[in-house]
Amino acid sequence: MHYDATGRNHGLKFDPFKALAVPRPIGWIATVDRNGVPNLAPYSFFNAVSDRPPVVLFASGGHKDSLRNIEDNGEFTCSLATYDLRDQMNMSSATVAPGVDEFALAGLTPAASTYVKPPRVAQSPAAFECRHWKTLEMPRPADGKGEPFIVVFGLVVGIYIDDAFIKDGIVDTPSMKPLARLGYMDYSVLTPETVFSLNRPITTEDGRSAKLVSGPWDGVYR
Ligand SMILES: Cc1cc2nc3c(=O)[nH]c(=O)nc-3n(C[C@H](O)[C@H](O)[C@H](O)COP(=O)(O)O)c2cc1C
Repeated sequence: MHYDATGRNHGLKFDPFKALAVPRPIGWIATVDRNGVPNLAPYSFFNAVSDRPPVVLFASGGHKDSLRNIEDNGEFTCSLATYDLRDQMNMSSATVAPGVDEFALAGLTPAASTYVKPPRVAQSPAAFECRHWKTLEMPRPADGKGEPFIVVFGLVVGIYIDDAFIKDGIVDTPSMKPLARLGYMDYSVLTPETVFSLNRPITTEDGRSAKLVSGPWDGVYR
């Protein structure tokens, strides 16, 4: 099949778009409201878009609490959503009233951040502390249905890593078992068994070809 995506004319049971943009990392976004009450919610329209400086983004379908809090005070954290925390992550997505603390709702502990006010999820093995950089409103959908998405960019100003996951100077990400969002209500999980490495091709001196060198990575991103 091949269809006009602007009109969403897929003819399938459900819109397949999100089942094809996979796997998506989950940014578990924590903010604080004007009264200092913490807010927590998962966002899978989330990714890193630069590492110098480190920048992440997430997209909110309309004005949700996380976005409103960031507009108010310019700070958020994103904790790593892991397989062991999948039920708590899911519970924190409940559409509860503004001012309801989803840390408490999901049975999670807020841990104080170092560089920003919003806490991180204490049970999560890693978290970014972010300052709002820019907000970008996506185009309205052609069918006019639903509020447009709003993308929030955050400069990562602090990074927490549980030392138990650092081995020989390398972060053992697969052992953290990060969750990945698929389409529908489906998820996947990164584990040590599913990881493989590929060395980047090294360009020849004349710039017209490239070769692959096997063996351990030489530490250069090409
Ligand atoms: C795994 C997962 C990923 C989600 N990703 C998004 C997303 O990218 N954008 C969005 O607007 N809502 C997303 N949601 C729904 C929000 O988490 C939900 O609307 C939540 O109540 C928003 O909370 P807030 O109003 O406290 O920000 C996701 C839900 C789940 C379970």
